[in-house]
Amino acid sequence: MNTPIPRPGVLKVSPYIGGESSIPGVTRIIKLASNEGALGPSPKAVEASGGTADSLCRYPDGSCAALRERIGALHGLDPQRLTCGAGSDELLAIIGRGYVGVGDEVLASQYGFLMYAILATALGAAPVLAPERNLTADVDALLARVTAKTRVVFLANPNNPTGTYLPFSEIRRLHAGLPGNVLLVLDAAYAEYMTAADYRAGVELVDDSENVVMTRTFSKIYALGGLRLGWCYGPPAVIDVINRVRGPFNVATPAQQVALAALDDQPFIDKVREHTARWREWTTRALRDLGLTVPDSVGNFVLARFPSAAEADAADAALRRQGIIVRKMAGYGLAESLRITIGTEEEMRSLVDGMAAFLGDRVPA
Ligand SMILES: Cc1ncc(COP(=O)(O)O)c(C=O)c1O
Repeated sequence: MNTPIPRPGVLKVSPYIGGESSIPGVTRIIKLASNEGALGPSPKAVEASGGTADSLCRYPDGSCAALRERIGALHGLDPQRLTCGAGSDELLAIIGRGYVGVGDEVLASQYGFLMYAILATALGAAPVLAPERNLTADVDALLARVTAKTRVVFLANPNNPTGTYLPFSEIRRLHAGLPGNVLLVLDAAYAEYMTAADYRAGVELVDDSENVVMTRTFSKIYALGGLRLGWCYGPPAVIDVINRVRGPFNVATPAQQVALAALDDQPFIDKVREHTARWREWTTRALRDLGLTVPDSVGNFVLARFPSAAEADAADAALRRQGIIVRKMAGYGLAESLRITIGTEEEMRSLVDGMAAFLGDRVPA
């Protein structure tokens, strides 16, 4: 065949499909499909974005020095052990490129974030998925699937789309059972929403070991998904690998500047966390009152489970007719579920009204 041939695995990838943000013919859209922060970005970040024009003609600081300093100061981390990327997606992919090759295995949980299997497949590796219990990652099932070919374990904690999490004791148990040459990636995209006493994003484990890296993002509680900015904290050797593999200017200057302003507004982040918890609990209760199964979630989203995939699809279609976009979950093997991001109070009330109308039930008081 006289055509360019992609790497092994590439043509097996089903591309990730992001949440839609428009519906033809509908002007008032309520987008609850991509787990973006409920209240938008901090006004300080929005203001800073207006002042970024002067930076456009120069290359960015490829090391994101000021941003790493600020992240380090906020979280008590050594800036030398941080690196930044164009979203945590880019960092996950870079970690894959740095550690995973053709014929290797990448371990993740059954309903873990979809990108893990996608990036493994694109690298010619085999994604290995460990079954979950009660829509929650199962440490024993994960450990039972570690083989000599396992290179990386990706674990979102809390997980998207299930909204469940593992206490830190379980994360430590997972790490203790892994061979030292397997890299454990703790994807803590939703860490800022967490208030549970038994939860840790992973810093302590990174500090204590050579084979753990934690990834974070500005796309969720900071509501800066359009900026494309994430960061990770890891052992010096892992950070060194990431810095070798990543593009030299992978984070744009405006992204660095806006993120600095966003980090300065922690009271706003506290407000988003409190708002999200309140409306997540309200939405969970309201949907349960309508007869749906809704597992407890700790993220900025809930999973609404229907008796069948056909009913979930019908609910999705009914909501769309009202301009409400949620996320279908067939790609995760959860076709009977819809994932609903927590938005503003008005948005959540519209969502519950729309669902009640679909289910032909009364809106709970
Ligand atoms: C668990 C998890 N990890 C990573 C990401 C990627 O986020 P980003 O690339 O915007 O930082 C997401 C986004 O949905 C996510 O849910």
